[in-house]
Amino acid sequence: MGLTRTKAWQALAQHRDQIAGRHMRELFAADPQRFDRLSARLDDFLVDFSKQHIVPETIPLLTQLAHRRNLAAGIARMASGERINSTERRAVLHMALRAQRDYSVDGVPVSDGVRATRMRVAEVAESIRRGDFAGATGRRIRRVINLGIGGSDLGPRMATRALGRYAGEALSVAYVANIDPTELADALRGADPHETLFIVSSKTFTTQETLANARAARAWLAAALGPEQTGRHFFAVSNNLVAAQEFGIDPARCFELPEWVGGRYSMWSAIGLPLACAIGAAHFHDLLDGAREMDDHFLSAPFERNLPVLLALLGIWNTNFLGAGSAAVLPYSHALAELPAYLQQLDMESNGKSVTRDGTAVGCATAPILWGGPGTVGQHAYHQLLYQGTRKVAIDFVVPVGDAGPEQEALVANALAQSAALMLGKTEDEARQDLLGRGVDAQEAARLAPHMVCAGNQPSSTLLFPSLTPRQLGRLIALYEHKVFAQGWIWGINSFDQYGVELGKQMARALGSGATRNAGLDGSTAALMREIDTLRGRGA
Ligand code: F6P
Repeated sequence: MGLTRTKAWQALAQHRDQIAGRHMRELFAADPQRFDRLSARLDDFLVDFSKQHIVPETIPLLTQLAHRRNLAAGIARMASGERINSTERRAVLHMALRAQRDYSVDGVPVSDGVRATRMRVAEVAESIRRGDFAGATGRRIRRVINLGIGGSDLGPRMATRALGRYAGEALSVAYVANIDPTELADALRGADPHETLFIVSSKTFTTQETLANARAARAWLAAALGPEQTGRHFFAVSNNLVAAQEFGIDPARCFELPEWVGGRYSMWSAIGLPLACAIGAAHFHDLLDGAREMDDHFLSAPFERNLPVLLALLGIWNTNFLGAGSAAVLPYSHALAELPAYLQQLDMESNGKSVTRDGTAVGCATAPILWGGPGTVGQHAYHQLLYQGTRKVAIDFVVPVGDAGPEQEALVANALAQSAALMLGKTEDEARQDLLGRGVDAQEAARLAPHMVCAGNQPSSTLLFPSLTPRQLGRLIALYEHKVFAQGWIWGINSFDQYGVELGKQMARALGSGATRNAGLDGSTAALMREIDTLRGRGA
């Protein structure tokens, strides 16, 4: 039966109609235990969802939907190594990358291989960090540049910045994704080819951007070291080792990325090599430990207290029942500035789908448009829309409490102030009283008050944990990974393929090769191509 026709869905729609008119102010006033009832934790990692537009009775209705959609079976099937990525016929075993227990696919154990790769990543990262790992001319490596895009870039890039305080001075780690040569040029500024190492990260080893950057990097090395010497300055991480070797990377310098690791779920694998170089193997392993703790929680906690399941269900509530078309992730930590970009791929590439696993229409909205940025910076940009715009936006405030200190305290206070103010809002009467209290005359107060009204009721969750350590970051990212899976499972979609992206890639290849220059192009694109030719002819 279609999702929206299930009793569980209908019950939620009815429930939404019952509580829609109640302001969250009222819900808090009516229930002094609201925070206790509507928050959950994995020891010191807390998720407060009491500022979601729900009542305690909403939770069993939501978990009912998860049961109706056999989420527990979905989780078990993923964990058992079943090929739940049905279109590509692949298992989905990123949990195996951080597990202590053994996993297998089709009865073939995979965990020994995982452990061996983890050890090799640690050895290589540590030898580079110690300066034992020499380039072609015997000099120590001082700069590591990761060449990859999407899942072969965003995770390690985000985590390297998030955990920057664990990085040493001796080695810098940079990331280059864009085919625009400007990004590589930025990463190479001040770099010495004798002391620079490139990691070509690409699951397929066919990605246009990554290969273009790898070729440019090789040319840059060759110009200084000679073409024969570039090999000592490359590593590769890929599922396509043949192509990596054809590119000229020594098999001994290749790490295999198993096919059962999706690109956007891969930062725990050898794709994390640049991150391990940046923060050291021990911290990288702490990150894996944190993720494993969240895995264990996801696999065992009842849905009413299961953080990823709760976030998934609240996301469905906001998207499908309250009409929130977008979700904002607002980390109150500048180190987490890249988190929204990372989550955009994780969430939108996984669940930006319109058909179910059996190829029929989903019949309801799926992944929200995810965006965000670090607080407090965003407060002086887009928060105005959150307060007084016309859209409902589901917000996650991500708040590492951090050490005591006036700036850190101000940062955390701002996070709490935003979530409270967006929930409470301000009535016209309150605005008028405010103005009168500030000495504004009654006529002016009446004129201005309507402009100061904030409707409130903007739904948010607050993810609060002691500080941004590798372990807590591992928990945070695994939390979102499982949230995305649970949500996709309930919508009935395959969260692990990305066929849409292929269409744009094909078109780019065709346009780039000139194959479609004169035929089969739409009027706009054909005209733009002519305009470009003209501009180029003019030496633009
Ligand atoms: O463009 C989408 C995508 O296929 C992502 O799913 C993937 O993470 C990225 O490209 C990079 O792919 P690869 O690691 O194969 O270079």
